[in-house]
Amino acid sequence: MSELIKESFEKTRLAGNIASRALDEVAKIAKPGISTNEIDKLCYEFINDNGAYSAPLFYRGFPKSCCTSANHVVCHGIPSDKILYEGDIVNVDVTAFKDGWHGDTSRTFEIGEISVKAKKLVRTTYEALMKAIEIVKEDIHLGDIGAVIQNHVEAEGFSVVQDFCGHGIGKSFHKEPNVLHYGKKGSGDKIKAGMIFTIEPMINLGNYETKTLKDGWTAVTKDKSLSAQFEHTIGVTKEGCEIFTLNKT
Ligand code: MF3
Ligand code: CO
Ligand code: CO
Repeated sequence: MSELIKESFEKTRLAGNIASRALDEVAKIAKPGISTNEIDKLCYEFINDNGAYSAPLFYRGFPKSCCTSANHVVCHGIPSDKILYEGDIVNVDVTAFKDGWHGDTSRTFEIGEISVKAKKLVRTTYEALMKAIEIVKEDIHLGDIGAVIQNHVEAEGFSVVQDFCGHGIGKSFHKEPNVLHYGKKGSGDKIKAGMIFTIEPMINLGNYETKTLKDGWTAVTKDKSLSAQFEHTIGVTKEGCEIFTLNKT
């Protein structure tokens, strides 16, 4: 591994670890009655206290430190006074910027007891992310990642959002390549050791289509069905990959 790649992995590991630990803290307060603003405040403070910045804050005009996407919100939900109730699901997406490098991760939290269907959606979304990560190594095609996710999700009767994708990440928050969460095995560019990107499937209970609300950010399912998401930042190696945003649990 070249010195440059080594450095990029080391720096992303540090940023990713802070982002992941911020979500470990969110897990402790993600209970019925909490507002998404309270989650945002915790993320802002935790990331700052660890010597990093929240990359979403003021990114292209985004007003908060994390995204909080509840129920039928697919992604980019803006924290507000909105209260989370028993039975809700909420994705919290944080990105730490540390020493010039980014670490981006999200998890979907269950608020109290949730329905059997919602539980299955959340579990399947997580499985899809981890199954995709399992196949990542030098020389696979980008389309292989999408195929694994799509096959797993559609076998369970759910649909893959197509309007948003994973992305290269490093000194910039979002860069090439686009990492689609659907596709055909063997399609797309081959990936190389040293590449760093996110995989972040958004999976809907109903139809895959989304629309963006008038605030210019909040993406929701067109049919108002539930949507879940998990995200990791990973670095490709010859034999596999390293997950930079692993949770300890
Ligand atoms: N963290 C999101 C992603 O996974 C991007 C959020 S951009 C923001 O790529 F501006 F909405 F924060
Ligand atoms: Co991302
Ligand atoms: Co993210």
